[in-house]
Amino acid sequence: MARILHIEDLRVHFPINIGTVRAVEGANLTIEEGEVMGLVGESGCGKSTLGLSILRLLRPPGRIVEGKILYHGEDIVRMGAKEILALRGGRIAMIFQDPLTSLNPLFSIKEHFIETLRTHEKRIETKEALARAERMLSSLGISPERLHEYPHQMSGGMRQRIMIGLGLILNPDLLIADEPTTALDVIVEAQFLDLLDDLRKRFNLSIMLITHNLGNVAQLADRISVMYCGTIVEVGPAQTIFDEPLHPYTQGLLASIPNIKLDEPELKLMRGSLPDLVSPPSGCVFHPRCPRAMDVCSEEWPKTAAVNGHQVNCWLYR
Ligand SMILES: Nc1ncnc2c1ncn2[C@@H]1O[C@H](COP(=O)(O)OP(=O)(O)O)[C@@H](O)[C@H]1O
Ligand code: SF4
Ligand SMILES: [Mg+2]
Repeated sequence: MARILHIEDLRVHFPINIGTVRAVEGANLTIEEGEVMGLVGESGCGKSTLGLSILRLLRPPGRIVEGKILYHGEDIVRMGAKEILALRGGRIAMIFQDPLTSLNPLFSIKEHFIETLRTHEKRIETKEALARAERMLSSLGISPERLHEYPHQMSGGMRQRIMIGLGLILNPDLLIADEPTTALDVIVEAQFLDLLDDLRKRFNLSIMLITHNLGNVAQLADRISVMYCGTIVEVGPAQTIFDEPLHPYTQGLLASIPNIKLDEPELKLMRGSLPDLVSPPSGCVFHPRCPRAMDVCSEEWPKTAAVNGHQVNCWLYR
């Protein structure tokens, strides 16, 4: 399998009046061709910032201060404006939580597709653009007649499908989906995740599925990266992240999913909340909340250890 994305020691900061928000602080993440990588962690841990960095869509004052984002071996951090534009939509697509804010209420769905195609293929004829839009809709299980509708005429689930269609119309090989189902109800959410699973096979897509809900990625992800305070604390195959989580934070996340039984009930209580990213804790950033913390934990950041097919940053596995 080829490696499509390789993020190395990425640091992304937001300088604000009271200091610097260290939203991403030394994150490492890889995505292999055709795989679904689930990126999970509590709200505010830096998942969206990491996703937006890949497309260089950070809002000021956000800035990549260090690290590499290799896409097929090319470093996105060092790309010029022209290359970045070609990347967005063309080779890497991104969808967000609320499709209504990404669709223009004044444009019909048809116009959205034509516009999207023309930003990358300037001379495409309307007829050809429409034919491609219709083919895309039918592969998403949507009737072509809906091309004439406007965003407000559609349900949330339908709008999210349209966003996927607009994302895939230019044949990207990587889709970044940031909490795509948060605004959907449970049944529509399940249908949407099924659709993603189907699309990745048919379009040979790699997907980065960002979610705060570990239960969500269960059915779809091949591997899971667990993020805490701007860094990745554990990576492993989805199945064993669920069955044998190693990092106490991953164990705590799992324990917070209803109906999951743990051998060690003390983990059920993940104390406190995410620390302030302006002045994160010393050593292992999880130590103030960790039921297993030892003296060394507040002093030094644990290096990555390879244990049972996982990569984990925790002094329990030195
Ligand atoms: N534009 C911004 N200015 C200042 N701080 C920001 C900005 N965007 C995000 N942050 C901060 O960066 C941290 C990570 O946020 P985010 O990446 O949105 O996390 P997540 O997606 O995991 O919820 C948070 O502390 C958030 O407040
Ligand atoms: S390094 Fe220490 S504080 Fe951090 S997760 Fe492991 S045991 Fe807990
Ligand atoms: Mg987010």
